[in-house]
Amino acid sequence: MIDIHHHLLWGMDDGASSLDNSVAMAKMAAADGITHVVCSPHANGQYAYEPGIVADKIQELRQLLDSENVGLKLGRGCDFHMSYENIQEAKLDPQRYSINGQGYLLVEVPDYGLPRGLTDIFYQLQLAGLTPILTHPERNPTLQSDPERLIDWLRGGVLIQVTAGSVVGRMGKHAERMAQSLLEKRWVHFLATDAHNTSSRPPRMQEALDLVAKRYGPDYAHLLCVSNPLAAFIGKPLPPQMEPLELYEDLKPKSWWQRLVGGKDR
Ligand SMILES: [Fe+2]
Repeated sequence: MIDIHHHLLWGMDDGASSLDNSVAMAKMAAADGITHVVCSPHANGQYAYEPGIVADKIQELRQLLDSENVGLKLGRGCDFHMSYENIQEAKLDPQRYSINGQGYLLVEVPDYGLPRGLTDIFYQLQLAGLTPILTHPERNPTLQSDPERLIDWLRGGVLIQVTAGSVVGRMGKHAERMAQSLLEKRWVHFLATDAHNTSSRPPRMQEALDLVAKRYGPDYAHLLCVSNPLAAFIGKPLPPQMEPLELYEDLKPKSWWQRLVGGKDR
């Protein structure tokens, strides 16, 4: 499995608290069957994102893991928050924030007060050559109460990452319910751990993969945990996706009967 969202690096944010803690998280991820991790510290007003420091820390951790025979491939990325400064910088230098500098960008939106202009911001990021991946919408209270906000973004090519812990009920009932609803509609493109430590936010995906495979089929589980995140890791286009439900229905031509009774309008 490939984990594209993981706060593995020590001393960067509220993730790993020490180098020892980073090593313990890496070992836990490898034991769970994770083969690649994108180290994605927060990039927000509280935590400045410095790609040079991230690269140095990845190098240091990689050497340590090699010496202990932990075969985990490490990549660079960030947990990009939608601040004005971040957006301007990402448009000028799209490689700076994206996964391994290859164009896929993890984007977190505010929990409350989502501006209507977000659709346009996603579009501007795309014009700069970036592919936005919206992180854990199932944990966002505004999107939980109004999931249809996702429709325009999905139609515009924004991808969705759900937290593995949400799928198995570790992030609360609301997040679990919305995660299942998004999965049911095949609106999800990635599962990722968003791990912060080895206890309350651990780097585990296998249980979520198994649940998705059981409920929605092994092909979808493989797409979410292996094929799609691998494409993001190496900067290639995603493979063919499952057909999403309830996303394009109102754009399809209606039969005479649907037109007569009004059909379903959004
Ligand atoms: Fe995160």
